[in-house]
Amino acid sequence: MKKYYITTPLYYVNAAPHIGHAYTTIAADVLARFQRGRGIATHLLTGTDEHGQKIEDAAKASGKHSIDFCDAVSGKFRDLWKRLDIQYDDYIRTTEKRHEDKVQELFALLMKNGDIVKGRYEGLYDVVSESYVKEADAVKGPNGVLLSPDSGKPLQKLSEETYFFKLSKFGPRLLAHYRDNPGFLAPSNRALEIVRFVSAGLEDISVSRAKVKWGIPVPGDPDHTVYVWFDALINYWSATAGADDLWPADVHIVGKEIYRFHAVIWPAILMAAGLPLPKKVFAHGWWTVDGRKMSKSLSNFVDPCEITQEFGVDALRYFLLREMPFGNDGDFSKASLTKRYNAELANDLGNLVSRVAEMVDKFLGGRLPTKPPLSGDFYTTVVAKRTPEIAAKMEELDFHGALNAIWGVIREINARVNEKAPWKLAKDDMAQCELVLFDLVWSLRLVSGWIDPFMPHTAAKIHMQLGVRQFPDSLTAEDVLSGVKERVGLIQKGPVLFPRKA
Ligand code: MSP
Repeated sequence: MKKYYITTPLYYVNAAPHIGHAYTTIAADVLARFQRGRGIATHLLTGTDEHGQKIEDAAKASGKHSIDFCDAVSGKFRDLWKRLDIQYDDYIRTTEKRHEDKVQELFALLMKNGDIVKGRYEGLYDVVSESYVKEADAVKGPNGVLLSPDSGKPLQKLSEETYFFKLSKFGPRLLAHYRDNPGFLAPSNRALEIVRFVSAGLEDISVSRAKVKWGIPVPGDPDHTVYVWFDALINYWSATAGADDLWPADVHIVGKEIYRFHAVIWPAILMAAGLPLPKKVFAHGWWTVDGRKMSKSLSNFVDPCEITQEFGVDALRYFLLREMPFGNDGDFSKASLTKRYNAELANDLGNLVSRVAEMVDKFLGGRLPTKPPLSGDFYTTVVAKRTPEIAAKMEELDFHGALNAIWGVIREINARVNEKAPWKLAKDDMAQCELVLFDLVWSLRLVSGWIDPFMPHTAAKIHMQLGVRQFPDSLTAEDVLSGVKERVGLIQKGPVLFPRKA
């Protein structure tokens, strides 16, 4: 049985991770948790991109040997993923032998097929994005210095012998693939850009560097190393070596700035190698700070660890996917995080769970009637019927839409509490009070299932407060020590889920 296979980009190890990297990885983890939760065998791959000129330069500047430098920064990414509760199944580093062997195998195959041939590259190169830049796209800086249109940093002039991949010949096949597989490019506005770009005609690309030593040697020509992008893209396939239940990937999740590499070059490489294409390549938008892309090169980045120390891991996971549609750009600010935290997490969700749990404890001794006579109940008619819509949004990677729908239901549950006023019913209509509370508890149990991929700790805490007996995997020591454990199975208020922030 083929597994549902999700990938993140491999992050460059030139500097420590920031919120932008966390964003992609959290999104991939949310999708993976959602799929696992519905019983689908799932495989999540992430890792680090460790070769090339940028890393070689960064290692030199740090005074470390390249591999020691890579070990250290790759470790920081791993540490962050642990902290952010990322359940990845495999972590690949491009400096691993399992990867290097496969890159050489594929490079040699394409040479043999005549899709990689030797030539000469004369032109511009952007070390920050590790990409070849056309003269026409360069920006003229002071004194006529040519600058990268992306990073604004000076471009290098290259004049070297190189190997070319015959990308130009794959244009028509790529266009046919986009046409016949409408789900391949997502979201749809990005698809248009790619189709336009490919329709304008593709040029062959240089896939080796003569002057970069920190890379995988070209098979049979060790004076050249494989171009870092050709090397890195292959990870998605090299990581599946020995497993026949993974390839092709179901979805590659990437940021929009690297979409062409994934939507044009990568499928063309696979076509040249005679390998099946991934099912979907999804490009999300950027987190900006004061309108500028958060990036290592601009030094305007936010440290995810600082945010989690202040707001907790679940709140960060929630905010990143809630703030803007997956695909759009958004500006990161503590003010908007605090606003959502207080309004949506502390108030809408946290208070609701506390209120409901407290009422069941107080009015029913923590026990729900096993089977009240329900008809036209709120749980079924208002809450549970939303599951298919939420699941469909999750499947489409519309995390923002799914959370919108979930919070719509949470608001309806809040309205229901106020409308039915169980504290009044407890005085004069106990049977009705039981019914209403039964409905509310089951509604919240379902809501906690929906939010579980986004906020696994919160979902586990809600489960415990609402008497779900099974201890979830994500139970923390903190949960156990808080004493909730002793009365497992009974419904009772627990520690405040989201203490309000000033
Ligand atoms: N190494 C390449 C990818 C190779 S994949 C075969 C690379 N690495 S990177 O470290 O620069 O990471 C880029 C990815 O990090 C983006 O595509 C995106 O997923 C994420 N982000 C980095 N900065 C970001 C923002 N400011 N906002 C949102 N995502 C960002 O490119």
